[in-house]
Amino acid sequence: MEENKKYYITTPIYYPSGDFHVGTCYCTLMADALARYKRLRGYDVFFMTGTDEHGQKIEEKAKAKGVTPKEYVDEFVSRAKKLWKLLDISYDKYMRTTDEYHVKAVQKICQKLYDQGDIYKGEYKGLYCTPCESFWTETQLVDGKCPDCGREVKEVKEESYFFRLSKYQDRLLKYYEEHPEFLEPEKRKNEMIKNFFDKGLEDLCVTRTTIDWGIRVPFDPKHTVYVWLDALTNYITALGYTTDNDEMMKKYWPADIHLVGKEIFRFHSIIWPAILMALDLPLPKKIFGHGWLVVNGKKISKSFGNYKEPSVYINATSVDALRYYLMKEVTFGEDGNFSEELFVERINSDLSNDLGNLVSRVTAMIEKYNNGIICKKENLPLQDIDKDLIDTATATVENVEKYMDDLKTNEAITELWKLVSKANKYIDLTTPWVLAKEENKDRLNQVLYNLLEAIRIIAIPLQICFVDTPQKIFEQIGANKEETTWDSAKVFGVLKDGTKVTKGELLFPRVEMTDELFKVPEEVEEPKEDEDRKGIITIDELDKVELKVGQIKKVEKVAKSKKLYELKVDVGEKELRTIVSGIVPYYTEEELLNKQIVVVTNLKPAKLCGIESNGMLLAAGDYDVVKLLVLDNNNGTLENGTNIH
Ligand code: ME8
Repeated sequence: MEENKKYYITTPIYYPSGDFHVGTCYCTLMADALARYKRLRGYDVFFMTGTDEHGQKIEEKAKAKGVTPKEYVDEFVSRAKKLWKLLDISYDKYMRTTDEYHVKAVQKICQKLYDQGDIYKGEYKGLYCTPCESFWTETQLVDGKCPDCGREVKEVKEESYFFRLSKYQDRLLKYYEEHPEFLEPEKRKNEMIKNFFDKGLEDLCVTRTTIDWGIRVPFDPKHTVYVWLDALTNYITALGYTTDNDEMMKKYWPADIHLVGKEIFRFHSIIWPAILMALDLPLPKKIFGHGWLVVNGKKISKSFGNYKEPSVYINATSVDALRYYLMKEVTFGEDGNFSEELFVERINSDLSNDLGNLVSRVTAMIEKYNNGIICKKENLPLQDIDKDLIDTATATVENVEKYMDDLKTNEAITELWKLVSKANKYIDLTTPWVLAKEENKDRLNQVLYNLLEAIRIIAIPLQICFVDTPQKIFEQIGANKEETTWDSAKVFGVLKDGTKVTKGELLFPRVEMTDELFKVPEEVEEPKEDEDRKGIITIDELDKVELKVGQIKKVEKVAKSKKLYELKVDVGEKELRTIVSGIVPYYTEEELLNKQIVVVTNLKPAKLCGIESNGMLLAAGDYDVVKLLVLDNNNGTLENGTNIH
């Protein structure tokens, strides 16, 4: 892989607000399509999504649910990960702003900005929208309400620290001018400049004293970091920024693209570049602000009540159908209408009729007329109609590349369907069933071969958007790995003579639009008893954990790590166990040697810095203080390997 063929793509990190609908999935699906496209083209892709877990809104939601903020966000993250699995989102990292490395890095960033005078103390007087976590000035309000969500704002006045955003105004404008590709689409850039720069940028409040659930400001801990400084920096803290391990930072920063929804475009195009300038880091190559999915002109949103969980659509149809609809129907960058009727129409026409039928007709004919064996007729002259199909097919992938590189994702899909439709027309014009009847075997095989090749060439770029269907097609047409590479889609005539074709099940059965089709399943209320018992395990579950007395016989630091010891531990077995443990900051080698400690002995082995660790030492505490659970040995010692109940 070439060194510079890397692609770092991010989605916004989502608020754990329980707001899961096709709208919230849209950005992640599009990012996934771009990541898949780059991987197909041989790029080293790093695709990141995650959650933005601090702030007043979370604090309040957790309180309302009677759980701690951390419990609240943990539960959300597990639901989010399930959803991304259902949608087959191929992210490489799921980042959480409550992760320890992020918290520490944000504190270091704050300190640096404060030390260099980019953050200063002042007093904030302003109008605050709690749901949007945004401060507004009087003039920005619309009818006295939040311009983003239309809800009430409240006046707040408090001691705050400010980031000198105004200082970066000229540098930002110059940067936009010199890098026209930095902010897209163009119209959003212009709108943003007009709305915010014409009036002049104001310094930005970056801390609060009234929110507990946030990252403590290191130089004034009664303050917590106000949400945007915490959230935006996730794109670099996830790469190890401010830590000793900055390999990822070196490899992937600057990001190639941040995909964001249009309402958070301004935070990404003003605040984020200014922070990066202050940190003296290069800016991302592109920030792309996509539009919203709307229903009858209104943004799909939990607060508007016009949404359903994506699983409702996927369970009724398929994940590929939903992915297709969102990528095809919405012009990337514009708002797009989500209509259940249109969704069904697209499935029946584009997927079932056009693509599905093409594959099933061709594979069925090969089975019927040639026992499922491909016959490649190389020395038979091509007719004009063949040449036309071949020309379209070989141009398809290059056109798809052009559209995808320009982020014209829906046009890339349209390009594929041009070939689908040409291939279907080719069947109608060449009439293979007539050739079979006439026993014109050579021409029949030539026609069927051309069709299979067209299908192969369609299925390769289809992998940008679809997650199940391309593989099913490859299996049906007998295409092997080399015959499905990206570059092989630029060549016509790759499938080999004698390959076996096997007709499979229908790729996209027709769907009938009924009242029941997308019915939301009734919520099953969990029994109250279970709710109270949340987190409680039975004695049998506890018994699964094997705990034993162990004695540390040998201690060695792991060369490549600052935290890890490689320990040899006697747990009463023939051989000493190798256990890798991150306790270097808390214990010296001498302190550990010969200690009797508690070991989990039936933990699945894991590799840490290339060393296989077989077990875990029990310890209490985190971050600053960590204490091993050590046997006191006051009244005699226990044998190594003794079970702990
Ligand atoms: O804004 N159509 O998080 P969020 C399309 N935490 N996109 C939609 C949508 C719709 N109907 N509804 C929501 C945040 N979205 C911050 C981001 S990044 C450092 C911090 C999109 O959960 C929305 O546009 O409120 C945004 O890009 C994303 O969902 C997350 O929104």
